[in-house]
Amino acid sequence: MAKTAFLGLGVMGYPMAGHLKKGGHEVTVYNRTTAKAERWANDHGGSYAPTPREAAEGADFVFTCVGNDDDLRAVVLGEDGAFAGMAEGAILVDNTTASAEVARELAALGAERGIGVIDAPVSGGQAGAENGALTVMGGGDSETFGKAAPVIDCFARACVLMGPAGAGQLTKMVNQICIAGLLQGLSEGMNFGQKAGLDMDKVIEVISQGAAQSWQMDNRAATMCAGKFDFGFAVDWMRKDLGIALAEAKGNGARLPVTALVDQFYAQVQARGGRRWDTSSLIQLLSED
Ligand SMILES: NC(=O)c1ccc[n+]([C@@H]2O[C@H](COP(=O)([O-])OP(=O)(O)OC[C@H]3O[C@@H](n4cnc5c(N)ncnc54)[C@H](OP(=O)(O)O)[C@@H]3O)[C@@H](O)[C@H]2O)c1
Repeated sequence: MAKTAFLGLGVMGYPMAGHLKKGGHEVTVYNRTTAKAERWANDHGGSYAPTPREAAEGADFVFTCVGNDDDLRAVVLGEDGAFAGMAEGAILVDNTTASAEVARELAALGAERGIGVIDAPVSGGQAGAENGALTVMGGGDSETFGKAAPVIDCFARACVLMGPAGAGQLTKMVNQICIAGLLQGLSEGMNFGQKAGLDMDKVIEVISQGAAQSWQMDNRAATMCAGKFDFGFAVDWMRKDLGIALAEAKGNGARLPVTALVDQFYAQVQARGGRRWDTSSLIQLLSED
């Protein structure tokens, strides 16, 4: 069993750290808002530390799951950051959805200190985190990944090494690009069906047996029709992720016309007060016009 630290107890990190503990590992947590770390330690019987450095001291594996690139740098680098507490041979596993650039930056800085780094963004949402059934997309060297994978497995249904540092984040970008266009299509279909006066429960039941089926249709179509968005993956996070993908595409030459358009639709949802609404709230722009 390994000695681990988990930094960032948000919607995702809180249950993920819980699965490490349930998997038999020793877990010390850190959270910027200490009350959450205290609550986690009470719920799970682990310990908490006041800084990332202190949480990471003596750990074989340090997990991070914070918001964006800058948040990640804040918990990993600097005097009180995780790297300052990690010994040579320890491994950082970053579950944040961040840029490939910051993944490569941390991998290079880690290598200077003898610390292995894996970028390991996740897919599967809050439910996947709570059920320990996330999909993990890894980037890094195979030896480091091989050591980290059995520990990551505590909260994963699938965990795959995609290539060198940054490849996990690039794969997550593909995931988000696919979802953006799909959700707009689903919104247009559901809104069209409602305007046509169809029984949408029946529509969803029948077309989800055919070629239009998707995870989003199975899990979101009914709530979209009911106008319920106060759950799930927040629009603010989606805009962050699409921004990362659009910036990466500027460098690699990929054209993302629909992704760029949907990103602008999400900006409209934000302006309507939907920053924490689920990403399926795109339909609201159509149904209320
Ligand atoms: N939610 C999902 O369905 C989902 C699915 C897949 C991937 N993700 C990705 O997973 C990551 C976390 O998402 P989440 O939903 O768990 O977010 P969240 O609930 O907003 O939690 C963010 C966590 O990061 C911490 N944090 C943020 N900025 C920080 C900073 N500068 N220094 C120290 N700690 C900081 C927060 O601490 P405080 O408690 O003090 O604010 C909190 O623990 C994001 O990159 C997101 O895109 C989320």
